[in-house]
Amino acid sequence: MGRFEPVGRNERGQTYNWQMEEIVVTGGRQLKGSVAVLGAKNAVLKQMVAMLLAPGTHLLHNVPGILDVALMGRVLEHIGATCSFDGHALTVEVPDQLRPEAPLDLVRQMRASIVVLGPLLARGGVARVALPGGDDLGARPIDMHIDGLRKMGAQFELEHGMLIAGAPGGLVGTEIGLEFPSVGATENLLLGAVLANGETTVHNAAREPEIEDLAVFLVKMGARIQGAGTSTITVEGVEALQPTTHEFLADRLEAGTYAVAGAITGGEVRIERCIPDHLRMELRKLTDSGCIIERGDDWFSVIGPDRPGPVDFATLPFPGFHTDMQPQMVALLSVSSGTSVITENIYDARFRYAGELMRMGADITTEWQHAVIRGVEKLSGCPVIAPDIRAGASLVLAALRAEGETVVGDVHHIDRGYEDFVGRLQSLGAQLERRQAGAGT
Ligand code: UD1
Repeated sequence: MGRFEPVGRNERGQTYNWQMEEIVVTGGRQLKGSVAVLGAKNAVLKQMVAMLLAPGTHLLHNVPGILDVALMGRVLEHIGATCSFDGHALTVEVPDQLRPEAPLDLVRQMRASIVVLGPLLARGGVARVALPGGDDLGARPIDMHIDGLRKMGAQFELEHGMLIAGAPGGLVGTEIGLEFPSVGATENLLLGAVLANGETTVHNAAREPEIEDLAVFLVKMGARIQGAGTSTITVEGVEALQPTTHEFLADRLEAGTYAVAGAITGGEVRIERCIPDHLRMELRKLTDSGCIIERGDDWFSVIGPDRPGPVDFATLPFPGFHTDMQPQMVALLSVSSGTSVITENIYDARFRYAGELMRMGADITTEWQHAVIRGVEKLSGCPVIAPDIRAGASLVLAALRAEGETVVGDVHHIDRGYEDFVGRLQSLGAQLERRQAGAGT
């Protein structure tokens, strides 16, 4: 993870500063070939936190080399754990005594750090976590995390932007009904409930595959969980958990992004080591737009049409269309032969990147949670800025189709979720490179 020190020297001895890098794409190449998917970011981050529940040595395989994993490593180290990476393997030593704190500079960089609340409360009855605040996707409150943990006996106070949580007598199992199937709230409650006193039932729980994988991991550690992957999860608290070894499920968002890369270039891309069943809705929409999809149990391939057709969709919790695939799909539909209507139901500000696509010639109107995309015949390359992980990927995908050169700035956002995005697209035949910002001027 040395690559993710903000400033340093690369393998060739050259200095770099990843916060100042950009990706330069020359569009027009059809992508061809195959790409294998790594472990799911949104599973890895939560399971790194889950390890705090048991002192000892944990080993994780298939961990992607992405910035968010490095950031979560820093959160764990702040809490007292030691993380060491060896390729895609991660060993974490969790001590008996934890420092139950996640400071603002770390939580700001990665909101997922908020899931340390549940395990820290479960382990030591106290937690001090900076309140994350909003981000590029909207306000993103954590009221459901707090309400649920409160029902389990935790008390919260907000002091100088820090959430101070205490459960002196330990967390106690109870019935919790979530207003909305929040992924993070479901995970935080699950992580608190596994060591709680008695039985906890979470109703209207999120059903994402990453939650199921978290439950599999926790059960390997000795937890008693039933119903993960359904709307009702029941957890019977146990006295203690043990360290374990785990291999992550494939990242459906990485798989879906390379699928759109094939589709938008009219190419042919095979995605390997993934679970196509976790992308059912997204693959259905790609088919509706004119792609030919073939699939096996752990692979699928996409043949893109010369020009995609228009498609309407609405983002929804799993098994609906994933909000984290919305920007990539919008890039594809921006060059479709008709008009598409998209409804974003998860985040209140997820179309902010549309302005960057419009600089490339896309015709998009956004109104509150809706976007109307009138397909244009061609996009043209220009400088754009990656505002977040998926929107950053979407701009690179659009650039693969655009005429001429596109320069995507702020690419550290893309590093948060994609290992070697540039190298993997190059291996599929794309013409792009990464350089220090301004190197081409
Ligand atoms: C996780 C994923 C993120 C994905 C999202 C939805 C990680 C690290 N991130 O985010 O990539 O886009 O699931 O699939 O796994 N909400 C509240 N109150 C709460 C909790 C959530 O109002 O207490 C709202 C959020 O503001 C958001 C919506 O519910 O509008 C969904 O949030 P949630 O499912 O919790 O997403 P995250 O866990 O933050």
